[in-house]
Amino acid sequence: MGKVLTGVKPTGTLTLGNYIGVLKNLASYQEDNECYIFIADLHALTLPIDPELLRKNSIDIACFYLAAGLDPKKSVLFLQSSVSEHSELAIILQNYLYMGELSRMTQFKDKASKEKEEGIGLGLFTYPVLMASDILLYDCEVVPVGEDQVQHVELCRDVANRFNKRYGKTFVVPKAEVSKVGKRIMSLSDPTKKMSKSDPKGDIYLLDDEKTIRKKIMSAVTDLGNEVKYDPENKPGISNLLTIYAALKDISIEEAEKEFVGTNYGTFKGAVADTVIAQIVPFQERYRKILESKEYEKVLREGAQKAKAQAKNTLARVQKAVGLLDVKEK
Ligand code: TYM
Repeated sequence: MGKVLTGVKPTGTLTLGNYIGVLKNLASYQEDNECYIFIADLHALTLPIDPELLRKNSIDIACFYLAAGLDPKKSVLFLQSSVSEHSELAIILQNYLYMGELSRMTQFKDKASKEKEEGIGLGLFTYPVLMASDILLYDCEVVPVGEDQVQHVELCRDVANRFNKRYGKTFVVPKAEVSKVGKRIMSLSDPTKKMSKSDPKGDIYLLDDEKTIRKKIMSAVTDLGNEVKYDPENKPGISNLLTIYAALKDISIEEAEKEFVGTNYGTFKGAVADTVIAQIVPFQERYRKILESKEYEKVLREGAQKAKAQAKNTLARVQKAVGLLDVKEK
């Protein structure tokens, strides 16, 4: 059995990008792997967020995980903030990552460029340190993520290797795994930009109703011409819709292209809308049932206990490696 870990940050309503990039594939990992799946609530504090909204988003993500088929008997589901070892390991690990490396992270550069200097919290800068701690605490080999998070996982590999070289093998060195189709779903209003939680016009939110989903897809920005062809450079809009279609149908882009030879953009968009609705509406129904039943409370409570049992061992190993004295009762 391998070990797999991933997390989602509760900063807004999840999008079709989050669904295709990671959520939809998560359940398939739990059959053959030990999975640690969490809500990165501490990471959500790296930009200003209303406390009520943070609580609501955190519950939503727990319900989304369950609606996506994660089974608490097979996977460990928890809140990052419930396992204090994440923060404790970050305090140690921050000494093995460098200012230069952190300032080169694309996500930091993007987010920081939108803030005034005095508005950039330290947490935004040290974001990848906490993320490396999330990953390394569970000795996991595989980290399923969308393409935008690969750079952070690479940095986590670097710090794990650096640490192991200095102190002997302490960490398992993980690798990022992106889905073959759909590792980067683009905005519907500007298909040269990633679909992200903070772009109402270009997003399909996982809680959008059927009518809204159809409207957004039918009015998605497309390209000149009338051929449904995958060509991200010259036809970014059509290529993005083809990716969405192929990912949801679990087929290759080539197979998707073949289905639409000779059709026009309107017919094609209609088929994409039908496909998204056919998956998202039943997903929303499962989400609502789970939310009402409050089943997520017990799941998160028990998940935190299981996660802590593992995290504690890794943290103790690290503390020992660096020379922190253990005077706890035996
Ligand atoms: P977050 O919350 O931004 O996104 C959650 C996951 O969704 C993927 N994703 C996408 N995939 C395809 N197309 C898109 N348009 C798209 N947008 C987002 C992301 O790549 C991610 O996999 N830093 C992480 C949370 C995190 C984490 C971790 C992940 C914290 N600690 C440890 C893995 C391991 C984040 O903000 O993801």
